[in-house]
Amino acid sequence: MCGIVGYVGEKQAAPILLDGLKRLEYRGYDSAGIAIHNCRHTSLIKTEGKIKVLEEKLGGAYPEGGVGIGHTRWATHGKPSDVNAHPHTDCTGDFIVVHNGIIENYQELKEWLQSEGHVFKSETDTEVVPHLIEHYYDGDLFEALKKTISRLEGSFALGVISRREPGTIVAARKSSPLIAGLGEGENFIASDIPAILQHTRRVYILEDGEMVKITKDKVEVTDFTGNPVAKPVFEVKWDAVAAEKGGYPHFMLKEIHEQPKAFKDTMAGRIFLEKCEIKLDDVHLGRDYLQSIKKIFIVACGTAYHAGMVGKYIIEKLTRIPVEVDIASEFRYRDPMIDKNTMVIIISQSGETADTLAALRESRKLGARVLAITNVVGSSVSREADDIIYTWAGPEIAVASTKAYSTQLIALDLIALYIAKTIGTISEDTIREIATAMKKLPEQAKTILDSVDTLKTLGRKLSEHQDVFYIGRGLDYPLSLEGALKLKEISYIHAEAYAAGELKHGTLALIEEGVPVIAPVTQEHLFEKTLSNIKEVKARDGYVIAIANEGNEEIKKSVDDVIYIPKTHPLLSPILTVIPMQLLAYYAAVARGCDVDKPRNLAKSVTVE
Ligand code: AGP
Repeated sequence: MCGIVGYVGEKQAAPILLDGLKRLEYRGYDSAGIAIHNCRHTSLIKTEGKIKVLEEKLGGAYPEGGVGIGHTRWATHGKPSDVNAHPHTDCTGDFIVVHNGIIENYQELKEWLQSEGHVFKSETDTEVVPHLIEHYYDGDLFEALKKTISRLEGSFALGVISRREPGTIVAARKSSPLIAGLGEGENFIASDIPAILQHTRRVYILEDGEMVKITKDKVEVTDFTGNPVAKPVFEVKWDAVAAEKGGYPHFMLKEIHEQPKAFKDTMAGRIFLEKCEIKLDDVHLGRDYLQSIKKIFIVACGTAYHAGMVGKYIIEKLTRIPVEVDIASEFRYRDPMIDKNTMVIIISQSGETADTLAALRESRKLGARVLAITNVVGSSVSREADDIIYTWAGPEIAVASTKAYSTQLIALDLIALYIAKTIGTISEDTIREIATAMKKLPEQAKTILDSVDTLKTLGRKLSEHQDVFYIGRGLDYPLSLEGALKLKEISYIHAEAYAAGELKHGTLALIEEGVPVIAPVTQEHLFEKTLSNIKEVKARDGYVIAIANEGNEEIKKSVDDVIYIPKTHPLLSPILTVIPMQLLAYYAAVARGCDVDKPRNLAKSVTVE
């Protein structure tokens, strides 16, 4: 996600902003910019690329002024470019805005503003904000921001300056982090503590629905209706390294806990229950084309491949189109049977994995239309695919993929619903049932994340073993593959996953007293079958941890431990079940003293074959 820094005080703002943005670089970004105001003049410099490029553009001569805002952009709407970089301005240049989040209703706002004569320069959702402030400004910047916010849907952390009100920054928070830093004769805003930690350790952590007006001597917090809010001062005790992880000990744990927001962002502006519509901006697959599709390939590597295996079950169930899932490094060399009636879905968090990119190119060469699911706007995969669905999970720093995987599943659900609705293989009731359940996932994920003590204990138990098995049926099988990969890649414990019905065909020979077996049993139509496989394990004195839907009391009689997850639509279960699996792996790795964020031998993006 993007980084925001703002300063107002006696010092020169430019070096403070640039230094603050550098301290947010770990979050990942593709462009940067700053705007500085002094009593006479406003300077705005922004560029695609890193802060180094921005500093080259500044040429060492920082604009003078004691008020400013800065931004590092992780692109969501609109590719990385100079013009799409923040800050953004209104028609007059009087109102300057930086934004972190997604404005869901930006298209309708943009059309309305254009009908009112506003001229837009960028492709971004953000640019509607300064034009709305221009529309509402009537002598009070804070009031204008309040009216603007009332029109916005989606998530936003906003910072605004204006030459109409020198010496002031106004800001607001809804679903994207924002803090106010309290200094002596100077004050700050930032999207994250590391940006201002060297200036102050006293901050207000803004909550959703709160706004702030800062000058060099004052910080006033209100709610969105203007009622003052008394904020406790949060004294930051972390050092700079801990602050980068938001206080979490590892990026992986931070990213596991970011999943509720990542789910919300990835669904933002894409599910319209009242109209029973699935809207995919960068997907242009018409009815005739989709009805001509005889086969779908899903091609990826590692965790993305496991997401594709879940996607197979869902897409086949809803669209009745045969789906074949392939590992990219195999697909590209086995002369796949592809023609114009074949669709290929490419999944890649980084969008740069060499084998996956090569599979994309091979597919297009053979005449297939390629739909990409990726987390990085402007990545090679996103540039070369015919259609794209972005997982707006924000930067994923830890090598072990967590929020990218679960948002890939959300993207696959959206694709399945989109295709099924277009070709008429499911009813509106089914669409509403699944889409309604999807909207509940962020809250349900939070429920799991709010009670991790049992997972900590069980993770530590697993850490004492050399071999762990995962078994599942239906959607619980591809999910088990992902659970096993998570455990082995960060704890170095040997872990294998099997279709539960397959155990007795060989692997059961490895089950002996105390061998841990993780058994997700979320697919209730297969429960009895999986239960019999669990009993096969117990008959050999294996140690079984089940992951079950809340309310399933029966499972307790047959296993050693049960981890419960909130009940959702069976097709959506993997999105929740994977969270305990991620945490079991995490706590096992921590107990073994492993380098959780940077496991040995692995890279975040494998750009070599
Ligand atoms: C998963 O935890 C690993 N980091 C790895 O398997 C990863 O999923 C794989 O390399 C694919 O990466 P991509 O999604 O960026 O293409």
